[in-house]
Amino acid sequence: PAPGWAEPADVVVVGSGVAGLTAALRCAAAGLRTVVVTKARLDDGSTRWAQGGIAAALGEGDTPEQHLDDTLVAGAGLCDADAVRLLVTEGPDAVRRLIDTGAVFDKADAAGTIALTREGGHHRRRIAHAGGDATGAEISRALVEAVRARAIRTVENALVLDLLTDAEGRTAGVTLHVMGEGRHDGVGAIHAPAVVLATGGMGQVFSATTNPAVSTGDGVALALRAGAEVSDLEFVQFHPTVLFLGADAEGQQPLVSEAVRGEGAYLVDAGGTRFMVGRHELAELAPRDIVAKGITGRMLEQDAEHMYLDGRHFGAEMWAERFPTILAACRAHGIDPVTEPIPVAPAAHYASGGIRTDRSGRTTLPGLYACGETACTGVHGANRLASNSLLEGLVYAERIAEAIVAAHPAGAPAPVPAEPARTETIPLLAPEQRFAIQRAMTRGAGVLRSEASLAEAAEALSALRAQAGDATAGGAPAEAKPAEPGVESWEATNLLCVARVLVDSARRRTETRGCHWREDHPDRDDTHWRRHLVTRLNQDRT
Ligand code: SIN
Repeated sequence: PAPGWAEPADVVVVGSGVAGLTAALRCAAAGLRTVVVTKARLDDGSTRWAQGGIAAALGEGDTPEQHLDDTLVAGAGLCDADAVRLLVTEGPDAVRRLIDTGAVFDKADAAGTIALTREGGHHRRRIAHAGGDATGAEISRALVEAVRARAIRTVENALVLDLLTDAEGRTAGVTLHVMGEGRHDGVGAIHAPAVVLATGGMGQVFSATTNPAVSTGDGVALALRAGAEVSDLEFVQFHPTVLFLGADAEGQQPLVSEAVRGEGAYLVDAGGTRFMVGRHELAELAPRDIVAKGITGRMLEQDAEHMYLDGRHFGAEMWAERFPTILAACRAHGIDPVTEPIPVAPAAHYASGGIRTDRSGRTTLPGLYACGETACTGVHGANRLASNSLLEGLVYAERIAEAIVAAHPAGAPAPVPAEPARTETIPLLAPEQRFAIQRAMTRGAGVLRSEASLAEAAEALSALRAQAGDATAGGAPAEAKPAEPGVESWEATNLLCVARVLVDSARRRTETRGCHWREDHPDRDDTHWRRHLVTRLNQDRT
């Protein structure tokens, strides 16, 4: 629909997690008229669910170089080493600036030394945490308060639909659908020469995920519709230890942080055997892809639905002090980690790929930037190192703000928008199709994949798309009416868009690398596949 209202800005930030709010704070501090648009409330989204913490070389004896090494090893040969170097060298100061903004981290002693824990793939204690296991909630609280204190304009309950561009293809703003926010209800536009996509992940493409319901790949789908390049979508990270609530559990599932293993909990099978010992020198603290494969492999061997995480030796006091969120979540589901091992299984957790950017967050479209989980800066390669995501959100948001301030000074007129940029007409899906997408993806493109399973998923997704296309074109049976435009139908449509690219990339990558595990191509193939798959709608390249 045509926008019913429009307002001007210097920069629009879409999304309100660590990446979006950091970019907004830095842009506003530099005097840019900044508008933050977010699909739900400011503190919804994945950031507030982050448990383990934020990784940075803050500890005595640790160095950015060691953090770089661990990140490159976890990334399985596909990290952009220069992008990682920026992350790990700028990381410690970015965390200190976050502390200056108001985030309070747990301390190791009365002198105020930051307490650091370990997680998978890290050879050192370098994960700062808050509230024990509620790091994301504290970061979100601090950033939301800072945004409110600086009176940065925010538009909540607003789904961004399309990028606006001028006749030369330069970014001119966004169209958005605002719900129940008074003056600016309905479909409108914000005109600005710079747009930052910080919309988070796409975990909802699978049935069981640690991601909240809002993680529907909106930024990647928008970027694809606008003609930007995305990369590495096949690398979906499955978190090894998600509380197992049944094989048919759907939607957001409770995470059991890697920090629990970092503090000494063991993975065991139903017979009590520690099956990660001997599989990797770091055993339970191997990089995440290796632990997820270890758990899934043992589940397959033993025809079991889950494995167990045993932290009984922590004792009641440590559980309550160090992991209050996890303790409460387990107890809410009738499991007491103090007296029994926790049933766990892998679930979709993080998109290591996303919208392709350079080292200042610039996408392949002028004036369009991306950071956080929706972006592919190159720092994660084929498998993100634990707790590098909050850090990436911080560091690359700051870099984006610098680039925007330099390229689009305050008050610069926004290019005059032409028609919304779309490379093709996308039929809207009905909201309930979300579940059909999730089931197809879980069956065919989950932790263990093959050409046969991926082909089945692709077929199911194509059928959903054809059905929606028929309904839109009026050629469908009477009961298949075109979907009503609205947030849930857009979310389902976005999920379908990203799912199709994900499956296509996973079929093309005929090897096993990082978190992409192919049953029919079980080995890493450095001769052919030490490269990235890049997709632009209707035009793929590697
Ligand atoms: C966790 O706490 O295990 C999650 C950390 C992460 O995803 O980086």
